[in-house]
Amino acid sequence: MAISIQKFEEQGGRLKTDDIDFESFRTQPLPSDVLRCISYMHDIEYQTVMYTRELLMVPAWKDPQFTAFLTLWNYEEYWHGHALGRVLAAHDRPANDIRLAEMRRFNKRYLVWSPALFWLLGHAVRQFPAVHMTWGAINEWTANAAYNRLAAIADHPVLAELLGRIMRQEGRHAGYYASYARDMLQDNRRAQKVTSWFLRHQWAPVGHGDVPKIETSFTTAYLFGSGDGMELIDRIEGRIDALPGLYGLNLVRTGIANSMAHVIETEGFVPQPPVRDGGAGKSLADDKLVLAG
Ligand SMILES: [Fe+2]
Ligand SMILES: [Fe+2]
Repeated sequence: MAISIQKFEEQGGRLKTDDIDFESFRTQPLPSDVLRCISYMHDIEYQTVMYTRELLMVPAWKDPQFTAFLTLWNYEEYWHGHALGRVLAAHDRPANDIRLAEMRRFNKRYLVWSPALFWLLGHAVRQFPAVHMTWGAINEWTANAAYNRLAAIADHPVLAELLGRIMRQEGRHAGYYASYARDMLQDNRRAQKVTSWFLRHQWAPVGHGDVPKIETSFTTAYLFGSGDGMELIDRIEGRIDALPGLYGLNLVRTGIANSMAHVIETEGFVPQPPVRDGGAGKSLADDKLVLAG
């Protein structure tokens, strides 16, 4: 059964960072490949307000439960971006407003055509809520897995603590989306068919069109193209397979393979992350409501 907004709002809120020692990165800096992933994640977290702009174009804007979720979700993602910006700033890398002002020049699609497209899809495709909720669950699962993998690769205690807190909120977001997706797809063959079509033809790792394509490709290939990252993707595929009518899409694996090919074509190779003991997969949040740290 779908998680109520009352249940969702009981937990979560602003990410707690007052006890995170961001200055420690000055004496124990992160490797450049890890910082490149964090830059991408920073950009995507902050981009949630743009996704909200699109989602407010669908007829569900009239539903107060839907707008309550968008408000809380957007607020929490904002603080994820903010915290990652502090990590970048501690490495004297561009972050927060400087990066965002640059991005907004790149994000011209949000001016007219992508909100217009959402208006059209929302009004013309009766089953679009099922598509959106399933899409959201997949993106939150992959966000959760990306932070999990990045924490294992970086092996930095301060970063691991910060990413662990973000992951718990991503798990909660995934739980909310997935609970709606399951309800909407259950016993609704039409919703299953439409959702499956959109995923097969339109889904790509989050960030497509928001940041330069190579940055999305690099992060997804670096985190999930080898080792324990592939195991995390198998688990996400298992979750998608378990949704009614969506068995066998092989969606995320295909997206990662495309990212690998793109990075090799553009930059010659995908760097191999260091292999660490333990870690991967152990904290991939369940799609139940996960308590926020
Ligand atoms: Fe987030
Ligand atoms: Fe999230």
